[in-house]
Amino acid sequence: MRPKHFLNFDNFSKEDLSKIINRAIEIKSKSESSEIFDKKTLGLIFQKPSTRTRVSFEVAMNKLGGNTIFLSSSDLQMSRGESITDTAKVLSSMVDAVVIRNDSHEELTLFSENSSVPVINGLTNLFHPCQILADLMTFKEKNQDQTLKKVCWIGDGNNVCNSYIEAASIFDFEISIFCPKGCEPYQPLLNDAKDFITLASSKNEALENAQIVTTDVWTSMNNESSSKERRKTFKNFFIEEKDMSLAVDHAIFLHCLPAHRGEEISFTMLEHAQSMVWDQAENRLHVQQSLLEFLLAD
Ligand code: CP
Ligand code: NVA
Repeated sequence: MRPKHFLNFDNFSKEDLSKIINRAIEIKSKSESSEIFDKKTLGLIFQKPSTRTRVSFEVAMNKLGGNTIFLSSSDLQMSRGESITDTAKVLSSMVDAVVIRNDSHEELTLFSENSSVPVINGLTNLFHPCQILADLMTFKEKNQDQTLKKVCWIGDGNNVCNSYIEAASIFDFEISIFCPKGCEPYQPLLNDAKDFITLASSKNEALENAQIVTTDVWTSMNNESSSKERRKTFKNFFIEEKDMSLAVDHAIFLHCLPAHRGEEISFTMLEHAQSMVWDQAENRLHVQQSLLEFLLAD
């Protein structure tokens, strides 16, 4: 039987994703850990830096009784030209699941096609689905009785934004995106999910009626060479305290972190009364523990 991979949301149903999120809320409320993955190993291949994704997966696996092996680019023979296909075949014969963070969604997909165990996207150039699971969990935790109808995204139409778009088409909410021309999300998604996306012509339009107000860095990892130019392009695409008054009354502010205070957010935005960024970051742990249970439990 082919393993179930978590590369993006497109082969997951609303029921599957809701199950993962609800279980995560339960894990968090009961501080649950167990030994269900005793002697199981999670491999982590990270070709880019990470604080939250790496630590949350390592701690989650530990809470489930398993262990982890962390491999940076230079640890693997891939850095000397061994193919992705060969690496996937060998590693998946030894570990029980693999999390990959890289700069090529295509290579992640190739790895998964040659892996006999579940592969999880820990962020690629195109998607960051684990982050959006945590975001949706954070919204649900705060608003048990509310249906999510609108998300406001200000800034770069990047990997995190793309995963929001996929979630919008599954959970049936609107994502209103205010981004500079030329920095729109992944074009195929703009076509596939057009009924769920608004490309807003002003910040106010994007904020109006939003229940989640969110953003991300102007310059994603490995694009640092263009950061000077991007500072100019994005100078009007930031979130500050007063913007929250244009969203619904109890809207929450989220940021996947790391944040650049003074760029995509004002200096004190993370500390705003409606900011839930610290819960959001902590929820990476609970939701990924739930995801591992979902993908690995027999
Ligand atoms: N949000 C997020 O994925 O953070 P890290 O880059 O620290 O993993
Ligand atoms: N868009 C950012 C997200 C970091 C979690 C990046 O890819 O660097």
